[in-house]
Amino acid sequence: MDAPARTDDVVAAKIPDGVYAETVLSVEHYTDRLFRFRMTRPSGFRFRSGEFAMIGLMVGDKPVYRAYSIASPSWDEELEFFSIKVPDGPLTSHLQAIKPGDTVLMRKKPTGTLVLDALTPGKRLYMFSTGTGIAPFASLIRDPDTYDMFEEVILTHTCREVAELKYGFDLMEEIRNHEFLGEIVGTKLKHYPTVTREDYPYQGRITDLMESGKLYTDLGVPPLEPAIDRGMICGSAAMLKDTKVLLEKAGLNEGANNKPAEFVIERAFVG
Ligand code: A2P
Repeated sequence: MDAPARTDDVVAAKIPDGVYAETVLSVEHYTDRLFRFRMTRPSGFRFRSGEFAMIGLMVGDKPVYRAYSIASPSWDEELEFFSIKVPDGPLTSHLQAIKPGDTVLMRKKPTGTLVLDALTPGKRLYMFSTGTGIAPFASLIRDPDTYDMFEEVILTHTCREVAELKYGFDLMEEIRNHEFLGEIVGTKLKHYPTVTREDYPYQGRITDLMESGKLYTDLGVPPLEPAIDRGMICGSAAMLKDTKVLLEKAGLNEGANNKPAEFVIERAFVG
């Protein structure tokens, strides 16, 4: 008589082709809308900092996937993701309940436009993010290549509430204390957190702060200049559209992997 199948075998038997099955290592909940998790990285999995992958779970008998920016840098041995929790989201309603030891699926091919290769050389790199749109930049600000290519890196992060900024503050702390990154990053990286629905020293949508010029005054930098400044934008569809208009008004052009230019955009994913 055959031995009964072990639970692991049952899970493995259902994993579709072309998909990695990885183990959750840690989970941190920031608010009732946001959490982060880290998982094992398959040995053959390569990606460029700033790219996204399709992340999934088996829900019943079927895998459910959503696009997720990889928040860890390309040199990291583990993979990190920063996620929203949508109460009835097809994936996140389940993903928000994962625990260390659980299995998460990942399709094998990463992709994306928020990569250094899609930008022409410049001096100052702006990363404009709202909400979970900070995730691809969490990868890029931990990649030494970013600091080889740019003299100054400015990460703006706008959220509705102060508690939603914590992931960004934790990142800054981690970088400062990191044994080799701390030195590479030095004073090149500036963090500009703003909040729109609570009192906070830095208040308002990033688009309004750009238009009023307050962003540049606060940072002590001149307004956008196509020969010097480069941009990456990640947020909601409306935020991408409005920020893009301002960059184009300043004379910057949108680039892509096959046509590098002065700025690139990508939607922060939900679901
Ligand atoms: P606001 O509170 O004024 O809507 P969301 O969670 O809805 O994606 O919003 C995240 C942050 O992005 C919020 O602070 C929100 O500000 C801001 N935001 C929303 N739409 C835009 C936009 N079109 N341009 C710039 N910022 C935006």
